[in-house]
Amino acid sequence: MLEVTDLDVHYGSTRILWNVSLRVAPGEIAAIMGPNGSGKSTILKAIVGLVKASGGTVTLDGATLLGVPTHQMLARRVGLIMERRCLFPAMTVMENVRMGAFHPAAAAGFDENLAWVRQLFPVIDQKAGVAAGQLSGGQQQMVAIARGLMGAPRYLMMDEPFLGLSPKIVDQIAEVMAAVKARGIAVVFNEQNAHLSFSLADRGYLLESGRIVIEGSGMGMLENEKIRQVYLGVEAARAGDGHVG
Ligand SMILES: Nc1ncnc2c1ncn2[C@@H]1O[C@H](COP(=O)(O)OP(=O)(O)O)[C@@H](O)[C@H]1O
Ligand SMILES: [Mg+2]
Repeated sequence: MLEVTDLDVHYGSTRILWNVSLRVAPGEIAAIMGPNGSGKSTILKAIVGLVKASGGTVTLDGATLLGVPTHQMLARRVGLIMERRCLFPAMTVMENVRMGAFHPAAAAGFDENLAWVRQLFPVIDQKAGVAAGQLSGGQQQMVAIARGLMGAPRYLMMDEPFLGLSPKIVDQIAEVMAAVKARGIAVVFNEQNAHLSFSLADRGYLLESGRIVIEGSGMGMLENEKIRQVYLGVEAARAGDGHVG
């Protein structure tokens, strides 16, 4: 179980997160939904040590995670797939994927994990020798997820994995998330679309201005009156916009 309790973060003297608490268990998906600038990325960055918490605790199966340097996260079996993908653009797709297993904790399962991600993402074999920078945005996101999974995480943090992708690619990545969950890996992901967030999530959290204001099961969040009015209503009115990319 990954548990975040009363997490506070400041950037300088500006307080960004206020008493954020959330949890996720193996084989569960937790969604943090909130508007742009609400602090979603900051939560994930604080969990993995990319920003310093000014209060609260983060524990993994009871052991503290705060203070563990980011480069040791995979040794704790915590993986992070950042927003904007961060592939090595001049390296090939297969090189990028294999690089995900650089850590000794991932080496033991290398063959099995590689077989699994090749099955999840046919693009790996189709584009194995192509420079990652040549791929479309959707293909790059798939390679980034495959690289993250090669690190053999038990807890996978995904910062806006659907950002800017076409509806077809969104569906494919949602299916991958279900497969990751079925393998017993816990997923925490950020997303701005309420319907997408909570239809995928076992646990849902609504973040506004750095505070968790509503939480519940995914279904419970979809049925919540405020979420329906403020977030699902707005989306229904904007249904013609669609995604880009
Ligand atoms: N490095 C930083 N220094 C100062 N303020 C930041 C920094 N990164 C983010 N912020 C601010 O913190 C708030 C939360 O940002 P972020 O966690 O990126 O939100 P989200 O991911 O929900 O869009 C925003 O107001 C943003 O401007
Ligand atoms: Mg963000």
